[in-house]
Amino acid sequence: MLWYGILAALFAVEIVMIALLRWRRKDRPGRTGKPWLCPVIALAVCAALAVWSPANALIALLHLCVFLCVGILADGICSLVTRGKDSGTNDGSAKDSSATEESRKRVRESSSHVWLAAAVACIVWLGIGWYAAHHIWRTDYSLTTDKSLGQEKLRIVQISDTHIGVTMDAEDFAKALGRVEEAKPDIIVVTGDFTDENTSREDMVKCCQALGQLKTRYGVYFVFGNHDASDEGEREFTSAELEAELGGNGVVVMRDKVLCVEGKFYLVGRRDTSESRASYAELAKGLDPSKYVIVLDHQPGDFTKEAAAGADLVLAGHTHGGQMIPLGLASQFLPTVFGDAEFMYGMRMYGDTACVVSSGMSSWEFVIKTGTISEFTVVDVCGK
Ligand SMILES: [Fe+2]
Repeated sequence: MLWYGILAALFAVEIVMIALLRWRRKDRPGRTGKPWLCPVIALAVCAALAVWSPANALIALLHLCVFLCVGILADGICSLVTRGKDSGTNDGSAKDSSATEESRKRVRESSSHVWLAAAVACIVWLGIGWYAAHHIWRTDYSLTTDKSLGQEKLRIVQISDTHIGVTMDAEDFAKALGRVEEAKPDIIVVTGDFTDENTSREDMVKCCQALGQLKTRYGVYFVFGNHDASDEGEREFTSAELEAELGGNGVVVMRDKVLCVEGKFYLVGRRDTSESRASYAELAKGLDPSKYVIVLDHQPGDFTKEAAAGADLVLAGHTHGGQMIPLGLASQFLPTVFGDAEFMYGMRMYGDTACVVSSGMSSWEFVIKTGTISEFTVVDVCGK
């Protein structure tokens, strides 16, 4: 209902903007063309889109609003320029009158070009966002450590926020895993929001099987995200069934669990913050300080405490890299947009602790990402 309420408000705003354009045209009868037809058509497309997905129609409408504002502003500037020229040059002679008409014609044309450019820019912008949400990039990070890894170099591949059913189904996910395997990981970690309310039971089962078939040296480890852990809504399976399916395929689910992988390095998998969970200090109690510690924590809001308690590498997701401009920027001032995220994307050092936030392989509900990408991350840790 919330989506439909916001959508209705946005439709009203856009209709007012289009009416304003019509009125401005009537005010100047010399003007020709129907540039307002562009936003009217776009509005009709958004209405059709709302039947499929109100959330994505909302995003398209928001972008249309921005580009309409730019168009109205540009149209207004063109009009002011024309009037300024007319009043500055017209002394009533037939020659000046002809020059003024010529000048008006040029501005009319440029104004129409501005509208066309705004419509094309909106389509291109959304198209790039669609591509960024559907194409999966590989992002590499390199780290060194004085601590013991049990080997010279450890390659960790992180998969996060796949939200199966939004931009990819089980078949697409299996293809993406092919690229993950090409990276030759020693260990694969899945940092949550593997599924959400859009995931069918059939896709969930197939994706768990695909994870279980991955060939690695140390296996595949998994922590729950807020969507995996939630049993609210109309999902076709419960969190317990997801956990059982993963376990049945040999994927190690870590819910406030600490493992020393083959006696070489530690892996700490935390419950999501939406669940009741132990503090990191409690989990890390008694760990051998000479061994490297990798922490998996879906939401990136506990880095400071994890670093203070001796973690060497923390891998998180959840933010989708900010999802789209200007959400990523706004969240710097309103951190609750993405929980209590300490930062949105990339790698930051907290003293000697490296913290990585992945933008994820997909996103929740929205099929557009701007100002960010879809990815899996490859982290190489080298002993000195
Ligand atoms: Fe999440």
